[in-house]
Amino acid sequence: MFIERVVHNVCDKIVKSKLLQCSVRLKHTKDLNEHRAKVMGRGLPERKPLPGVKSIILVASGKGGVGKTTTAVNLACAMKVIEPDKEIGLLDADVFGPSVPLMMNISGEPMLNDDNLIEPLLNYGVKCMSMGLLVSGENAVVWRGLMVMQALDRLTRHVAWGPLDCLVVDTPPGTGDTHLSLAQNLPIDGALVVTTPQSAALQVTKRGVNMFEKLKVPIIGMVENMSHAICTSCGTKNYVFGNTTKDNARQMGLNIIESFEVDQNMSDCINSGKPAIYALPDSIHAEKYRHLANKVFKYIDDKDKEQIKATEQ
Ligand SMILES: Nc1ncnc2c1ncn2[C@@H]1O[C@H](COP(=O)(O)OP(=O)(O)OP(=O)(O)O)[C@@H](O)[C@H]1O
Ligand SMILES: [Mg+2]
Repeated sequence: MFIERVVHNVCDKIVKSKLLQCSVRLKHTKDLNEHRAKVMGRGLPERKPLPGVKSIILVASGKGGVGKTTTAVNLACAMKVIEPDKEIGLLDADVFGPSVPLMMNISGEPMLNDDNLIEPLLNYGVKCMSMGLLVSGENAVVWRGLMVMQALDRLTRHVAWGPLDCLVVDTPPGTGDTHLSLAQNLPIDGALVVTTPQSAALQVTKRGVNMFEKLKVPIIGMVENMSHAICTSCGTKNYVFGNTTKDNARQMGLNIIESFEVDQNMSDCINSGKPAIYALPDSIHAEKYRHLANKVFKYIDDKDKEQIKATEQ
């Protein structure tokens, strides 16, 4: 109880005063681990909807550095571009290494509204929230277990997300506390699995897919990133990382919804805070992100129709 109270207070302080120096040292690591195992061992709690949020889509992969955040950022922006009347949100659930603020070009301390909820920051018409806006990166990396769960609770239930048609959630690499916590606590409509073609990445991706199956999170499909490079002089496609994604996707029973080649412009755009969908709207990448956004909208639509049908029967 003591540890839980300490963790709770720490998170509350961060949210309320947006402290940039979080100097908590948890002394009883053993107690914390035991408590965490107990909490996680209670089985699947009820997945409570986020007030005012119609659907939630995860962007995930077991592997790091494959382009999850690039995909999540461009997807959220593309959804806003093709359906400007819809409200889209982007949650950076990577509390260890948040990169949404950089890629969405957002900064500054978020404000609290009259209901004591954090107001998301808006850019490119997308409502964004990230731990990177609340604590400095150095502090975020010490967070583990329960603290991660508390932090995610604050980023989801203590943010004024609604009204939202879709919340896109960028997740950290791995298959750890964050994924478990999100899948256990939120009604996730579907996950997009991002991978690169290297066999190492595909192996780890399989672990991620297994995790989602166990957690009963439906997988919308696979996004292959950095599929190949095109020679700038002769236009030849070079499969520098191999060309086995299709076979692996088939084995996992997944469709590849879209493939994105390696492109320096993509990287330059996203790292300068102007996603390709806006910086290079006529590029092949922007077109593919619009296609991906369309697929996600259709997936959500079909799911809604199925639910309506099920309740009518
Ligand atoms: N198709 C692409 N072409 C060129 N560069 C890309 C492409 N996709 C992503 N990148 C670059 O690769 C790097 C890693 O991308 P990103 O941060 O999106 O990966 P990630 O999976 O979110 O990483 P992490 O696991 O650390 O969160 C970034 O610098 C990004 O600009
Ligand atoms: Mg990332």
